[in-house]
Amino acid sequence: MQDTYSYQATLAASEVLHWRVEDIIGGEKRLDFSKPFMPESLALTEPLSFLTKEEKRLLNQIRGNAYLCIFGLVEEFILPFVMDHARSHLRGDDYRVRALLQFAGEEAKHIQLFKRFRQEFEDGFGVDCPVIGPPEAIAQAILAHDPLGVAITTLHIEWMVQRHYIDSIKDDQQLDPQFKSLLKHHWIEEVQHAKLDTLIVEALAADRNEEERMRGVEEYLAIGGFIDGGLQQQVEFDLTSFEQAAARTLTEAEKEEFRRVQLRGNRWTYLGTGMTHEKVLATLESLTPKARQRVESISPAFC
Ligand SMILES: [Fe+2]
Ligand SMILES: [Fe+2]
Repeated sequence: MQDTYSYQATLAASEVLHWRVEDIIGGEKRLDFSKPFMPESLALTEPLSFLTKEEKRLLNQIRGNAYLCIFGLVEEFILPFVMDHARSHLRGDDYRVRALLQFAGEEAKHIQLFKRFRQEFEDGFGVDCPVIGPPEAIAQAILAHDPLGVAITTLHIEWMVQRHYIDSIKDDQQLDPQFKSLLKHHWIEEVQHAKLDTLIVEALAADRNEEERMRGVEEYLAIGGFIDGGLQQQVEFDLTSFEQAAARTLTEAEKEEFRRVQLRGNRWTYLGTGMTHEKVLATLESLTPKARQRVESISPAFC
């Protein structure tokens, strides 16, 4: 069952929940590198039995840094996408214009927040951890797709953030409080974005017949395939970063196991948790039941 949302209500909620970057990081608020940054269900270090406890924590933090960077990347395409969408609706519903501009402003703030955390990570971790990019090239490649496909991708990302926080982060008392605070504050604002994405998808699909809607769904899946290619590259980067941080070389068999488990963890983190989110599936179903069936036929590969 598809929920109905309103621009007025999301704007009102977002104005109440507003926070500043300076409230989250800086001064006494520092990362604690003696603690994990990511929940185990996303970091997936435990199955790597050949790693020591300390090494699992290092890998967990490398995954935390990649999470910051990958969110930085996706927000680089969400920001212009939302601005373009807002620009095409400047007349008419004032709440709509204001809610969309608020959304864009928050994403610009998140980009800055993720950069600040990344700087803090680089200063404290001691090893340079490369990430996929550059952000502009990735944003350009994604924005070249059908706007409906881009809108479904954005919807996927924002609901995925909800799932990460509610299912895995909120009740995890082991995590570094500072990193957890970032994830919490990001989640708070993404709640409203997910609702606005639902409205954007509905607006973009409104004048399309079933075939045209399915074209948007196929473009969403193509973007997913593009992201999956990036994740495979990211696992290789993480492997190199890990060996440097742990100051040891893994055997070929260990490397293979690392790649297999970490690709599964990355796919679940960035693809599976969004593709199987009940709200994403409900929106797909509202486009056409075929859309939901199509995505459900593919999602097990990422779970
Ligand atoms: Fe965001
Ligand atoms: Fe967002």
